[in-house]
Amino acid sequence: MPRLALVFFVVLLSASIVEAQERASASPPVLDFGYYRARIEPMFLVKRPGNVACVECHEQGQGGLKFQPLKDGGWTEDASRLNFTLVSAFVVPGNPKSSRLLQHPLASQDGGDRFHGGGKQWAAGDPEYLTLASWVRGETLPSSNKVVRVIQTNSAGDNVHIIDPATNKVVGIIQDIRIAHGVAAAPDGSRLYVTDEALHTLDVVDARSLSVVARLPLTGQPNNVAITQDGRKVYVGIRGEPGGLNVIDTASLKNVMTIPIGGGIHNVYVTPDGKFVVAGSLTHNLISVADVATDTWVRTIKMTAGVRPMAFEMKPNGSTNRIFVQLTGYHGVVAVDFATGTELKRYDFPAIAGVEANWDGLQGAPAHGLGITPDGKQLWSTSKVYGYAFVYSLPEMKELARVPVGQHPEWLTFSPDGGLVYVAAAGDNMTFVVDTRSFKEIARIPVGQVPKRNLTATLQMP
Ligand code: HEC
Repeated sequence: MPRLALVFFVVLLSASIVEAQERASASPPVLDFGYYRARIEPMFLVKRPGNVACVECHEQGQGGLKFQPLKDGGWTEDASRLNFTLVSAFVVPGNPKSSRLLQHPLASQDGGDRFHGGGKQWAAGDPEYLTLASWVRGETLPSSNKVVRVIQTNSAGDNVHIIDPATNKVVGIIQDIRIAHGVAAAPDGSRLYVTDEALHTLDVVDARSLSVVARLPLTGQPNNVAITQDGRKVYVGIRGEPGGLNVIDTASLKNVMTIPIGGGIHNVYVTPDGKFVVAGSLTHNLISVADVATDTWVRTIKMTAGVRPMAFEMKPNGSTNRIFVQLTGYHGVVAVDFATGTELKRYDFPAIAGVEANWDGLQGAPAHGLGITPDGKQLWSTSKVYGYAFVYSLPEMKELARVPVGQHPEWLTFSPDGGLVYVAAAGDNMTFVVDTRSFKEIARIPVGQVPKRNLTATLQMP
């Protein structure tokens, strides 16, 4: 082999080894919006000696790269998100050398592309190039920027609304999740996991960019979803028979197994002590309990009707005391002893004087929303029949209040301090906000079509 060709061959070979190593590192990383906005995007505004800034040419658009228009010399967060999506198309996550964004302006002698209409802007050892490469490899900012959000899914829409409980305004919308069912949040706030009833997938959402970064196929139509406290496993209730729970490994983003319990599953929870996963079946009238450590079935509790939402009362040591359960066709709440599976008592919702009962379109669930305040002192349950929430004291289960919360109220979730409750009013396309001390309505937040399941989560934000 002539010498030049040999050198060329060796260079190619070593490049392909590096690439193979990069490919081998499990699943491709997720490009981080916070890192992009803080460290990458500002590079497009900087003029390098002898060059002109990227934005000079790419604000008008050159090739396929056209930035959003600048405002006051910078980009708004919304514009950044659009830029992020566009720029990401010129990046191969995990592989800087295959990423046109990095290679096009890179000096050719450093392995850059042969030509760039904007000239050569960096060398392979430059801090800018190294920062770009870190971003492509999935680096995130130190996670200090965490914010509390209420996540409202819309069961007849194609989006999910993100509410800031400090202002009770919608601050973000996740697009393109059709017929979202439930949502779970990674404990580190990096991702949301949303069940997608249209595609039969678990949609993985990057919390910073609010974009769907993966859709994982499930074994059937999903209903609700729960996550382990260490964030390593997501359980998805599969509604279509034979049902069971799909177990998603969040590191590899793979659907690794199905726990064959309970038939078609509606709701799924991890108990507050993190030890058990509890699944409710509509068709088999069962509450099934599996051990989170082994993903094996432990026991079942037979109910008289389909199992709807549940809430878990804690003992002082954190283990589960009573489960409160809502059942198909039952207008009230049932208390069940978790350890023995014995039904303890039923709490029928009383008629509300002067309020007309509504039995239309209940979808088998006159009561379909339940929660216990973080301090463990109140149980809230919605009634679709009256458009009210009934509030009980715990542990006594004495009625404390009844509060109007819109038409067809569904799930509810509390602010972390328990001071506010967010109730999805499915018939109003609103999330109602109520003060849990005064029982007064604070706000109504317009959301999407037929909002149902919701969740309070601490998320990473830019
Ligand atoms: C003087 C104008 C100019 C500047 C400054 C400039 N570019 Fe370009 N860029 C172009 C032109 C013209 C093209 C299309 C021809 C080509 O592919 O080289 C292009 C193409 C690209 C492409 C490929 C787009 C495609 O559709 O494949 C990328 C990526 C890119 N530029 C990134 C950058 C980055 C990053 C910077 C700043 C570091 C930058 N450019 C600065 C003019 C410019």
